[in-house]
Amino acid sequence: MVVQTETVADGVLLVRLNRPDARNALNMELRTRLAEVFLALADDPAVRCVVVTGSPKVFAAGADIKEMAESGAIEMMGRRILRLWKPLADCPKPVIAAVNGVALGGGCELAMHADIIVAGEGARFGQPEVKVGIMPGGGATQRLVRAVGVYRAMRMMLTGEPVTAAEALSMGLVSEVVADDTVLDRALEMARAIAAMPPLAVQQIKETVYAGLDGSLAGGLLLERKAFEILFASADQKEGMRAFIEKRSPTFEGK
Ligand code: CAA
Repeated sequence: MVVQTETVADGVLLVRLNRPDARNALNMELRTRLAEVFLALADDPAVRCVVVTGSPKVFAAGADIKEMAESGAIEMMGRRILRLWKPLADCPKPVIAAVNGVALGGGCELAMHADIIVAGEGARFGQPEVKVGIMPGGGATQRLVRAVGVYRAMRMMLTGEPVTAAEALSMGLVSEVVADDTVLDRALEMARAIAAMPPLAVQQIKETVYAGLDGSLAGGLLLERKAFEILFASADQKEGMRAFIEKRSPTFEGK
């Protein structure tokens, strides 16, 4: 299977890219499977947090160049690739990317579909598409610019040169950098902690942040106010606050 899934802890689904011979290049088979996995997990109440990872050597080398080298524009259009990115972009559950090795092109864009990125010290992030005569097509011209600003994003996209994990951290492209052999453990530790949080609050935070990024400050703040108020209709809000007052651990059920 080019994408493997495994429930590794209560509420935590691990999604692993598995095309080692092609450095996890995103061919249509892998993209289709990844989209199917994300569509399914969106509706699965047992999944509270997702970790996406590659192998210890490579996260993903981007779109499969061999699969598109001889393609024409109409054929590329016919792939309707956005339909395969959409389940990841619209995922209502929190997603953590655990990145070892290179995350290039579509691989970097895949990482940027996550809400949190944990990178190993040896990781490299880059948008090298320009070197093969194309441009980013999985969202980097928008998401990378929003994450790191115009000038750093432009340098990455126009030169195609990757940045180190340390540089990515300083630019705001990753959340945390850890030793290479602890990346997955750290991502899973975080995922377990998030999976134990009240799911409705987690979902509202994610939805409000991304909706706000695309709108005005006033609109975003209004949305936040409404989402904040709606959470007071949840049993988890009562449980969380009562547990705090009663000095015990809360149990959240997503209600
Ligand atoms: N597509 C297809 N095959 C790829 C690939 C890719 N993106 N990246 C690596 N491979 C294949 C190689 O062709 C090679 O196959 P063979 O064994 O059949 O020759 C195999 O994976 C191993 O590759 P390397 O020998 O190059 O391995 P390496 O460890 O020395 O280097 C690498 C790894 C740095 C990732 C290097 O392979 C590389 O630079 N790959 C291309 C990266 C790239 O340009 N990505 C952008 C793609 S375009 C894109 O992503 C567009 C978009 O967003 C929509």
